[in-house]
Amino acid sequence: MSALKTYLLLLALGAATPVGAAPASQPSNCVKCHFDNEDENGPAHQVARDVHEQNGLDCADCHGGDRTLGDMDSVRASAGFRGAPDHLAIPQFCARCHSDARYMHDHNPSLPVDQLEKYQTSIHGQRLMQKKDQKVATCVSCHTAHSIGSAKLPYSTTYPQNIPATCGHCHSDSAYMAGYGIPTDQVEKYSRSVHGIALLKQGDLGAPACNDCHGNHGAAPPGVASLDAVCGLCHAIEARLFDGSPHRPAFVEQGLPMCMTCHSNHEILQPSDSLIGLADGQLCATCHADDGSKAAEEILKVSADLRSLTRATDSATVLVNRAGAKGMLITDEEFALKDVAQLGVQARSSIHAFAADSLTAKVKDGIAKADDVSARARNLLWEYDYRRIGLGIASIFITLLALGLYLKIRRIG
Ligand code: HEC
Ligand code: HEC
Ligand code: HEC
Ligand code: HEC
Ligand code: HEC
Ligand code: HEC
Ligand code: HEC
Ligand code: HEC
Ligand code: HEC
Repeated sequence: MSALKTYLLLLALGAATPVGAAPASQPSNCVKCHFDNEDENGPAHQVARDVHEQNGLDCADCHGGDRTLGDMDSVRASAGFRGAPDHLAIPQFCARCHSDARYMHDHNPSLPVDQLEKYQTSIHGQRLMQKKDQKVATCVSCHTAHSIGSAKLPYSTTYPQNIPATCGHCHSDSAYMAGYGIPTDQVEKYSRSVHGIALLKQGDLGAPACNDCHGNHGAAPPGVASLDAVCGLCHAIEARLFDGSPHRPAFVEQGLPMCMTCHSNHEILQPSDSLIGLADGQLCATCHADDGSKAAEEILKVSADLRSLTRATDSATVLVNRAGAKGMLITDEEFALKDVAQLGVQARSSIHAFAADSLTAKVKDGIAKADDVSARARNLLWEYDYRRIGLGIASIFITLLALGLYLKIRRIG
């Protein structure tokens, strides 16, 4: 197959969502010559998966130079040739188009034009631009230079499930990060967290990847003033309750972050009732003592409430399962158990009001509903026994009747 055909084929395969102009049917000399002269990791091979190339832009749109020329030396000497940018110059190299509102509007009006502006506010941007730090991420560290894809494409380095590896490329490399004095365990911890498991193992794209908390380009995602508030973007109920809770002013005064103080940031594990209490090792006990204070009283009440709810829910579940095992129809009871579970979820989320009162109402509802399910399951079990006893009596009666008939027939015969 000719290089040209291979190139077009690669381009067609890579072009998952061709929009706008079709890929150039006549590749420029830049592409042709580079494709023939480089190995399969070279730029002209990689651009098969590049959003620019897929939309009709080519080497010369980024690097400049005259596409019609036949040798590199003439290209280099031609007007507008920019060559490959120096590391420090990359943000401006990309921003020449991406910060140009009119240009971007003509090509793809849905794309924001604020990447450079935001990048300058991030630690990456600040260190690159003010301290000429070559090791921080620039546009190409996260996007690559020649296979830049939209974040919606599963092969893109910015696709949610690929983000931890994209950031981890530097942040998990302790040799590379030596000298900055920050940990290099974020990816490792994240992978063990509820979020990492949801995103990486269960494919839940709603769970946050690194960039959902840290922002794509800026210091924090749009709409949050600081990372401290980032959890509330998705966990709005907990954040609202926390805002009205006695912890809010206390944490502000002591400079403690809102959610991370109890849940951490990268290694957020599945929380449970066992965190609540004043025994050694329980979460609340890290700050509260069993000293008869109002806080201690509330903590013990919340803990006791949740225990009662668990007990009621467990016994209802056991009874329903037992009725099911005996072949009774338990569809309604199973539905009711789901309602009980839902009330449990609401009760546990209202822990964030850090006031027993707000939890007690939901716990009471939950217990009442669970007790009701238990009663219904007991009824089913009783019905089962009743039928069995009934059946037993009936069969004894029928046997006696048959025996009587038999004796009678014998006597007649
Ligand atoms: C006839 C073959 C040929 C053509 C046509 C060609 N290149 Fe090159 N290009 C090369 C080779 C070979 C190299 C690497 C060796 C060298 O530096 O000369 C290179 C190097 C480069 C580099 C690396 C930076 C630099 O300045 O060395 C860039 C960027 C580049 N080419 C872009 C382009 C662009 C854009 C076009 C079209 C406008 C183009 N090339 C056309 C063969 C070509
Ligand atoms: C979206 C803009 C863009 C397009 C399109 C693009 N490049 Fe590049 N290219 C870059 C950037 C940015 C760098 C610098 C990468 C770095 O420093 O890591 C680069 C670097 C290079 C280099 C230097 C060596 C290397 O591999 O990093 C060559 C050669 C090159 N490009 C050739 C090409 C050719 C040939 C094409 C067309 C097939 C092309 N580029 C298309 C942005 C682009
Ligand atoms: C010559 C102008 C130009 C340059 C230089 C340029 N881009 Fe683009 N880029 C575009 C255009 C136009 C699009 C929109 C393509 C479309 O959707 O039609 C685009 C699209 C993108 C997208 C995809 C956005 C999406 O979600 O659909 C990303 C990511 C991107 N560019 C990153 C970069 C990076 C990183 C650089 C620098 C290495 C760069 N671009 C350099 C013009 C440019
Ligand atoms: C630290 C990593 C990182 C750096 C550095 C970075 N980006 Fe991005 N960029 C992302 C991620 C992640 C997304 C995808 C966001 C999403 O999920 O839609 C993105 C999205 C984009 C988009 C699509 C439109 C948008 O804003 O969502 C463009 C265009 C873009 N980046 C260009 C750039 C340019 C230009 C630079 C350099 C000034 C740059 N990026 C630097 C990670 C980065
Ligand atoms: C090219 C390597 C590289 C990549 C890729 C990279 N970073 Fe960085 N990042 C750095 C370096 C170097 C620093 C500077 C460390 C410092 O100043 O403490 C840094 C700093 C940071 C900081 C600030 C740390 C602090 O000191 O508080 C955060 C947060 C961060 N990066 C997040 C990310 C995220 C999220 C991604 C992926 C979307 C990412 N980085 C991708 C190299 C990289
Ligand atoms: C659920 C939100 C969230 C997610 C997901 C997240 N982070 Fe963080 N990260 C934070 C918070 C909050 C901080 C603490 C910031 C502060 O103290 O200002 C932090 C701190 C950091 C720091 C500074 C050094 C440190 O460890 O304290 C780096 C680097 C970093 N994160 C990188 C990452 C990377 C890489 C990923 C993806 C694997 C990631 N983060 C995922 C919220 C998150
Ligand atoms: C981008 C949205 C998003 C952000 C930001 C976010 N989370 Fe999550 N979180 C989720 C999703 C989705 C789940 C998985 C829900 C599930 O499968 O149970 C989850 C699960 C959790 C869980 C386990 C809940 C359960 O019932 O199993 C906790 C605890 C949690 N997140 C705390 C936090 C904290 C603390 C922060 C901030 C540091 C945060 N989240 C930031 C979306 C987010
Ligand atoms: C990081 C420290 C810290 C942790 C962990 C913590 N608290 Fe607190 N809590 C405080 C501070 C500080 C106050 C305000 C001063 C006070 O009342 O002791 C407070 C106040 C309270 C109050 C209000 C008491 C009143 O006077 O109205 C309740 C209720 C409470 N906490 C419940 C809990 C529960 C439940 C847990 C465990 C899930 C917990 N706290 C974990 C620091 C903490
Ligand atoms: C004082 C400690 C503490 C703070 C502060 C805290 N939480 Fe929690 N959180 C808990 C405890 C304890 C549980 C477990 C409840 C249970 O399962 O009984 C929990 C459970 C959760 C859950 C899972 C259960 C649910 O609510 O669906 C999420 C999500 C959550 N917290 C998010 C947050 C967010 C977001 C913030 C900040 C606004 C926050 N938490 C602040 C202690 C805390």
